[in-house]
Amino acid sequence: MAIKTVLRMGDSILLMKATPVEQFDTPALHELIQDLEDTMQHMNGAGIAAPQIGVSVRVVIFGQKESDERVKRRYPDADAVPYTVLINPTLMPLGNEIEKDWEGCLSVPGMRGIVPRHTRLHYTGFDQYGNKIDRLVSGFHARVVQHECDHLDGILYPMRILDLKDFGYTDVLFPNQDIQND
Ligand code: NI
Repeated sequence: MAIKTVLRMGDSILLMKATPVEQFDTPALHELIQDLEDTMQHMNGAGIAAPQIGVSVRVVIFGQKESDERVKRRYPDADAVPYTVLINPTLMPLGNEIEKDWEGCLSVPGMRGIVPRHTRLHYTGFDQYGNKIDRLVSGFHARVVQHECDHLDGILYPMRILDLKDFGYTDVLFPNQDIQND
């Protein structure tokens, strides 16, 4: 297991289009996923994408194992998202409904911004063993998947903020809340 350094906005790897995984259930893939999980847990993230630890392949993980109280504290209003390994994802928005809400990112520490996302989403992909994943989701789950999969196309959430007045430092925006300063 290894906690990796998370690349921060400005690093060119975060702007690259990541390449698909071609072989599942390999030692290298399992090691990558373990590193992502260790790093996400260490940083209390809601999700993380492989390019954020410098590996430009189409792998994201997100969600929480049931016992993770730290993530619940950080996203108290969010419905629980099941812990998921998602590889080579495809995203298909359902309907035209858009929701705006606050997002943060481990690659943009200490900041939050309001980002529009599709409310309802159909997504598919594979887990680390090559098993198919096919889900219809909405709300926070849909938002997390859209945020993490954007990383695979070189998109960071500040690029999606419509009005930069909706972007700022977490401790200034939410001075009385116990939100982690990442
Ligand atoms: Ni992110």
